[in-house]
Amino acid sequence: MTRIVVVGSINMDLVTLAPRFPGPGETLTGDRFLTIPGGKGANQAVAAARLGATVSMVGCIGDDAFGDQLYDGLVAEGIDVTHVARIDGIGSGTASITVAGGENTIVVVPAANGRVTPAQVEAARAIIREADAVLVQLEIPLDAVEATLRVAEEESTPVILNPAPAQRLPVEWLARVRFLTPNEHELALVLGAGDDVDFRELMRRAPCPVVLTRGSDGAWFRDGDDEPRHQPGFRVEAVDSTGAGDTFNAALAVYLAEGLDVAVRKACATAAIAVSRLGAQGGMPRADEVTAFLETHA
Ligand code: RIB
Repeated sequence: MTRIVVVGSINMDLVTLAPRFPGPGETLTGDRFLTIPGGKGANQAVAAARLGATVSMVGCIGDDAFGDQLYDGLVAEGIDVTHVARIDGIGSGTASITVAGGENTIVVVPAANGRVTPAQVEAARAIIREADAVLVQLEIPLDAVEATLRVAEEESTPVILNPAPAQRLPVEWLARVRFLTPNEHELALVLGAGDDVDFRELMRRAPCPVVLTRGSDGAWFRDGDDEPRHQPGFRVEAVDSTGAGDTFNAALAVYLAEGLDVAVRKACATAAIAVSRLGAQGGMPRADEVTAFLETHA
């Protein structure tokens, strides 16, 4: 069974379904409000667990009621929470999300996620050593991200770095990554390039293999010196794209042993299923659902 360690954020998503997005200063009446566990790290952990991986989470929750719910939610998914720390005197991370017409806007307050430390990553060294892959994103402090890259490199465990929310990163960090998994806009930011440069050219410039997500267009991937290749997206009716990227990353890690082409195709399918359902963790499928989907979608 694939073993995965996720180092990242754990949020409570405060989701409002609205007929459209409000403008500045405007008050709208929404259709529905839900609290759904989220956070890029926790989402990737849950998606990988549902696909059948053995998953350990490294992250922080606050000492509030959300913290209890988030912790219990991870446990209910069968995720090892030995390295999830509860921080006294601070709330859990939250994401205020508005969903309208299948699109979303998100405002994240990191709170306890800002307390993930290099020491916490170091404490997880043994499970990182045993893992087939480590997943990390940018919703935790950068020194903890850097520690993750360093410890994983020292333990010869491949890292999938999902650079979201995006910011420019040192080239030396990127050189340590097995796969960088940005969208177009994120890749430009990470490399410090303009948005006017074609994404295929940016993929060639990156000092590491890149799997680039393009929403309904699917994904482009490049491993080594080859030219970027395209996996078209699967057509589904979009209900909520929240967490689609997280689902994609988890599936990529879980299916990587089957080869990059297969993994990217399955990751596109897994993300497409998630987009057709409400909520980040609400929409993540199980492995048998992915198999059934691929049998009925060319
Ligand atoms: O990637 C989606 C996630 O981003 C949401 O679950 C939200 O918590 C934010 O972190």
